[in-house]
Amino acid sequence: MRNQFFYKGKKMDVGVPMTDELWDSYLPKKFQSLSSFQWTPIPVIERTWKYLSLEKEVTSLVDLGSGVGKFCIYLSILANRSINILGLEDREELVDLSLSLKALWNTPEVNFKNINFLDEFPYGHSHYYCFNPLYETMKGSHSIDSTKIKSANQFLKDLEILKRKLYQLNSGTKLITFHGFGGSFLAGFRIVLKEEIACGEFLVWERE
Ligand SMILES: C[S@@+](CC[C@H](N)C(=O)[O-])C[C@H]1O[C@@H](n2cnc3c(N)ncnc32)[C@H](O)[C@@H]1O
Repeated sequence: MRNQFFYKGKKMDVGVPMTDELWDSYLPKKFQSLSSFQWTPIPVIERTWKYLSLEKEVTSLVDLGSGVGKFCIYLSILANRSINILGLEDREELVDLSLSLKALWNTPEVNFKNINFLDEFPYGHSHYYCFNPLYETMKGSHSIDSTKIKSANQFLKDLEILKRKLYQLNSGTKLITFHGFGGSFLAGFRIVLKEEIACGEFLVWERE
């Protein structure tokens, strides 16, 4: 029989693998139903950790558009809290939820800030991650809320800003993307890893 423990009121088996269902069960219902469209699947976070664990140096990682904090928090758990991870999110409600999940999962090396990364881009980190954060201005369905305008023009403008910011990163900096960053070509970067995971494209780009 498996050892069992209580985690914040829920009975869990030690050694039971993490699944999206289990992780998402700690989210409010309205965010659970968005999970497969908006939050990184567990196998992608596990692949990210496998990649990072083989990297020569990982000083810090930033999630550009961190949502409910799923990527940052579970990555910190996989890394045994060994990496400084920063999640940037422009929806205050999601930052508040991320901070409560950070406490729930006991991941002190993760921080969340309520900012727009296009206005205050966080330079100086060794690794960046994004799950197509700008695309929401293009989509008609599965939106997180109705606070952002849907506009192809806005999407293209934001994409140009993001590309310019990424171009300014130091040589050797890595950008990890799931479902892309919004475009197909990134000036100044080369692709060093390309895989299909959880029905999405997982890429690692390196600043030349
Ligand atoms: C597809 S979700 C990914 C969430 C998280 N990275 C994950 O993988 O679970 C993209 C997130 O980016 C946020 N976002 C979009 N544009 C942003 C911006 N300019 N600044 C900060 N956050 C942004 C959205 O609010 C949304 O929560």
